[in-house]
Amino acid sequence: MKSLKMLLSLLLIGLCADLAVAQTMETRDMEHRIDLLLHQMTLEEKVGQLVQYNYGDVKNPEQLVRRGRIGSFLNPPADAGEVNDLQKIAVEGSRLGIPLILGFDVIHGYKTIFPIPLAEAAAWDPELSEQAARIAATEATAEGIRWTFAPMVDIARDARWGRIAEGAGEDPFLGSALAQARVRGFQGEDLSDPQSVAACLKHYVAYGAAEEGRDYNSVDISTRTLREVYLPPFHAGVEAGAVTLMSAFNDLNGTPASANWFTLTKVLRQEWGFQGFVVSDWNSVGELLNHGVAGTPAEAGAKAITAGVDMDMVSGIYADHLVELVRNGTIPVSVVVRAVRRVLRVKYALNLFDNPYTDTRRAGREILNPEHVNFARKAGTESIVLLKNERHLLPLDKSVGSLAVIGPLADSPYDMLGSWHARGNPKDAVTVLSGIQHTVSPDTKIRYARGCPITGDSTAGIAEAVDAAAVSDVALLVVGEGADMSGEAGSRAHIDLPGVQEQLVRAVVNTGTPVVLMLVNGRPLALPWEAEHVPAILETWQLGIQHGNAVADVVFGDHNPSGKLPVTFPRATGQEPLYYNHERTGRPPQAENKFSSKFIDIPIGPQYPFGYGLSYTTFKYSNLQLDQSSIGPGGTLTVQADVTNTGDRPGEEIAQLYIQDVVASLSPPVKELQGFSKISLKPGETRTVTFTLGPKNLGMYNQEMKDVVEPGEFKVWVGPNSTAGLEGAFQVVRR
Ligand code: GLC
Repeated sequence: MKSLKMLLSLLLIGLCADLAVAQTMETRDMEHRIDLLLHQMTLEEKVGQLVQYNYGDVKNPEQLVRRGRIGSFLNPPADAGEVNDLQKIAVEGSRLGIPLILGFDVIHGYKTIFPIPLAEAAAWDPELSEQAARIAATEATAEGIRWTFAPMVDIARDARWGRIAEGAGEDPFLGSALAQARVRGFQGEDLSDPQSVAACLKHYVAYGAAEEGRDYNSVDISTRTLREVYLPPFHAGVEAGAVTLMSAFNDLNGTPASANWFTLTKVLRQEWGFQGFVVSDWNSVGELLNHGVAGTPAEAGAKAITAGVDMDMVSGIYADHLVELVRNGTIPVSVVVRAVRRVLRVKYALNLFDNPYTDTRRAGREILNPEHVNFARKAGTESIVLLKNERHLLPLDKSVGSLAVIGPLADSPYDMLGSWHARGNPKDAVTVLSGIQHTVSPDTKIRYARGCPITGDSTAGIAEAVDAAAVSDVALLVVGEGADMSGEAGSRAHIDLPGVQEQLVRAVVNTGTPVVLMLVNGRPLALPWEAEHVPAILETWQLGIQHGNAVADVVFGDHNPSGKLPVTFPRATGQEPLYYNHERTGRPPQAENKFSSKFIDIPIGPQYPFGYGLSYTTFKYSNLQLDQSSIGPGGTLTVQADVTNTGDRPGEEIAQLYIQDVVASLSPPVKELQGFSKISLKPGETRTVTFTLGPKNLGMYNQEMKDVVEPGEFKVWVGPNSTAGLEGAFQVVRR
């Protein structure tokens, strides 16, 4: 038996070795093909591969393609046949036949629009995120897109910043897990699969740390914060195999991200070994002049490509100046060749040389098919967070006598899609009103009233809304932000309910009819009055084309909500930036101590903390176990706890594990998420959740910016959110 095992393991080792050799051979073959191509390319053709234009902005795209003066278009025609015609010019009409790579912002779906990424992050479900990204890739590739400018993996700690909607929230651990899931979904098992798209980790790096939460604003953070908070999701995405990154608009401590050798080359290439290419964000090469680090476009181009930006999105500077910069000796041709090699690598990996065209029959059967649409509904239900449910007002009974469905977002298809909704069409979106209408019994009387606009000061419709609520059993109030009030250029100085919506809420609540508040928003909102006076509150975000059905599934109990907040909700805008994993201060906030770190005009702490979310059932945590009381700096530790469903209906719980390095050479965060586990439990059922902690979880960057595990005590919690849970401790000892 032993010899058989030995034989099998030798065979397995041999097979793995063969696989590795095969991959290496493939790589070697690809590099050889790239060498041959580079040898044939003129300098102009080389530079052409580094040029990307917006398809709709180019007068004569065919001519550029035929002359080999462009490597990529973004926002190409929304038709596989037209894309094939364009590709045909490149492949069959240009001198060397190098295919184009066509990019598009497929951020949370292509035509089947899923929840905005921040909403999907509330599901804490990498498998769900991976599947959503895979469906998005399938639909996008059916229309000739082979590169998406996603996932956006910027950590966001300031809810004033509109682009908080596009990422996974404030935490590097959750953000890294979802970055990897989305890369896997977009790129699939095999990037050469015609249904795979190249992922693009963006916006590299620290774009979310813009001062004041004002988009495109300066970023000034410590190297420690850069390495411990903003870089990890990018590193995770690179480790998951992402083949492109996008350099950001912002400067980083004075050096713009699109001319930052430290991040683009030292970290990305030398430390992480990234082999793909970097595309600049829209005209961010040109904006180096606005940043004041380049005096001419040519200087901007030289700085960007030398730092490590390989492809220039729409500025035209690479097209206009790189050839001359090489010819006059300003930049060595090797810098251009290096960038071209990286771009060609990705085109080969996508198999564009051997399979450049799209099967035009795919779109009809793959886009918006029932399986995709049903998955969008599932993703929506999983993303909803139950914030409050006094006296178990929810779930409602489908045979409820009468409902008032009120609010500017109750019947607004466009706003269900959220920002960056690609080629999603509002006509495909299910509104809250429609979802409710299709779920309740035919005998239920539904009264709809818009109440007020999303923004503006018109209160003319509030009386009608009050009348509807006054004669109904329950009022469903759907309020929040329009789709365009978050996302790019969507920063808000006040993150409460826009316009006169709060007046609407107060008027409806004052009728005495029980109110269920449903938030439609792309960021945390400051809602202190609502949090205190409304009995039930659902965070429903912007859930995409199935928003209304997902909300109805939760409101009427067909789905028990399990979402947990991926971002902290403040009591007031003035608390921003606000996040749970902050460093400790010398004067931690104490209600009874005036001279402690707090505001004098609001209570201490957030309205709703990171990781928070309720269920229609209840869960109990017990029996925390650590398998060791001490480990060496390189050691690992297993942490277990039991979770019991103590309620009367099945539910899902996202158990979370947090640590605290009690004493360290630099002030450690009060808590850090280092594990989560989503489990389904029947009433009365108990399951054990298990986590492993090791150097990747316990490490920190010390004074010398070395990633080390320092000896000393660590606390550990397992619980339902970042403020509660069973507490334990262990030692890291120098062995
Ligand atoms: C935009 C965004 C970026 C997007 C790009 C292409 O300005 O910053 O996220 O991918 O341009 O649309």
